[in-house]
Amino acid sequence: MDIFLACLDCGHQAPYSPTSNSCPRCNGTWREARYEYEKIGKTLQALLQGRGFDLWRYRELLPVRNPHLVSSMGEGGTPLIQASNLGMMLGCPNIFIKDERQAPTSSFKDRQAAVGVAALKEAGVTEVVIASTGNVAISYSAYCARAGIKLWAFLTSLVPAEKMREVAIYGTQVIKVTASYDQVKQVAAEFARQRGIYMERGARTIPSVEGMKTVAYEISEQLTTTFGAQRNYSNNGGGKSPGWQVPDWYVQSVSGGLGPLGVQKGFMEMREMGWIDRIPAMASIQAEGCAPMVHAFREGKEVAEPVRNPRTHIATLATGDPGRTYTLLYQRMREGAGGVFESVTDEETYRTMHILAKMEGISVEPAAAVAFAGVIKLVRAGKIKPNDTVVINCTGHTMPIETTILGEGWARSVALPSHITSQSTPEEGLLAALNRVTDDRFSSVAIVDDNEDARRLIRRILQAQGNYKLFEASNGKDAIELALCEVPDLIILDLMMPEFDGFAVLDALKADPKTAHIPIIVVTAKELTKEEKTHLHGQIFSLMQKGEFMSDELMDDVNELLK
Ligand SMILES: Cc1ncc(COP(=O)(O)O)c(C=O)c1O
Ligand SMILES: [Zn+2]
Repeated sequence: MDIFLACLDCGHQAPYSPTSNSCPRCNGTWREARYEYEKIGKTLQALLQGRGFDLWRYRELLPVRNPHLVSSMGEGGTPLIQASNLGMMLGCPNIFIKDERQAPTSSFKDRQAAVGVAALKEAGVTEVVIASTGNVAISYSAYCARAGIKLWAFLTSLVPAEKMREVAIYGTQVIKVTASYDQVKQVAAEFARQRGIYMERGARTIPSVEGMKTVAYEISEQLTTTFGAQRNYSNNGGGKSPGWQVPDWYVQSVSGGLGPLGVQKGFMEMREMGWIDRIPAMASIQAEGCAPMVHAFREGKEVAEPVRNPRTHIATLATGDPGRTYTLLYQRMREGAGGVFESVTDEETYRTMHILAKMEGISVEPAAAVAFAGVIKLVRAGKIKPNDTVVINCTGHTMPIETTILGEGWARSVALPSHITSQSTPEEGLLAALNRVTDDRFSSVAIVDDNEDARRLIRRILQAQGNYKLFEASNGKDAIELALCEVPDLIILDLMMPEFDGFAVLDALKADPKTAHIPIIVVTAKELTKEEKTHLHGQIFSLMQKGEFMSDELMDDVNELLK
């Protein structure tokens, strides 16, 4: 399967790599995944029948080479529900809700995280930084937990505490920044740059866009189930593939615009493959207090002027500077079936939340309700016509985490010096503030195990519950070299390893004055003989039997040793 990255600036096509950030020819950072559409277009529809209804059913069109290794939580495959009561009230019978609340972490961002994290895991990335208005951090946290990836989530202090705690419970390090979301993104990028950690970059992160586009595929497939295949439909395969249905409108609440950008790409791909004959009109709805795209659209501009001080209680949608995402959306909308950018007030949004819950039995978070309020407004204005088929992305619903569950210290705070503005480059004050985010010196821990999964498990346990400098060794010889070279504060040691086993490592460490003092926790699957127990006695801090201890039990010992 070949995947290419086409540069949006110079058109250069390079082979896909999940961690490559820019075009090898012009250094442009805006690129797009391209697949073998001609081949896939002819074969994929027939394959779908035998596949489960999650987003991996479109795996040939996703940037993950080995989806069989993905530890899926059933992402994608959300129901398309007809909103009959809302439809009746509005005189528009064909309103459908794509219910993304039913995603693993209750928001549509799970598509972005599921595909993104799968691609990173495949690339061997073990640490990631993201900036988020809440839901992206929650989704990434869940998927990173499964993949054994350490996540640093930078959130604006405006994100509701419930959402922050939801991020924290997955073991992500939350960094609360007192600043606008646009500034938070800068701070996070600087942190990632300083430490050489991979950073998620929204619409410029290929798997993010690709994950989002699966919404489009599902909508068309589901509408086809509802209404039947399109008749009299001719496509490039000479009638080989059935014509799928397309809604007249795709409606979504928008912050940075990744969702509509990805969904639009999905529809464009289906048209290229001859599965559909047109692109729906896109309605992107913003909160009035932070609606840079709407302002630009009304003035017919291709570039949005950033909103510096968002004035909305809906922090999830408070991206003040949509950057090039708006420009791309706007240009493609004009090439496609058009559409609108519209805004609604917080009051209209809250009212719509009540209506939706009371009339459709659907309780959503404010950021999702914005789209529904937008539909009401567009129908009233005559933009959406009575016979139009409308699909509203019901983007999310988050359950609160009880305050008491997390205990103290789950977030670190950064107060930005007041003179830093969105435009200024980070300078000394900011760097000093960032350095206070973490302890001056992390305790260092060496994990020694020949089994990669075992190392990943221990790494995950440690990273989810604290900040450590971690070293890993996969055999006894490397372990001794590592211990001599780095002199870690703690070694977590497996016993059964080929050639130089754990006992031999232990003897060597204890025999050398440079390493004799390093405490050791043995984690083993071996049933120990009496002699072996005697051998270990007095030499190690504790012994843990693999498959018989929980993460917090190992952490009790680690904390005891490193306090
Ligand atoms: C619930 C919800 N709806 C809508 C959005 C807007 O998404 P985007 O503008 O990235 O497509 C977000 C973004 O975080 C969200 O969490
Ligand atoms: Zn280029």
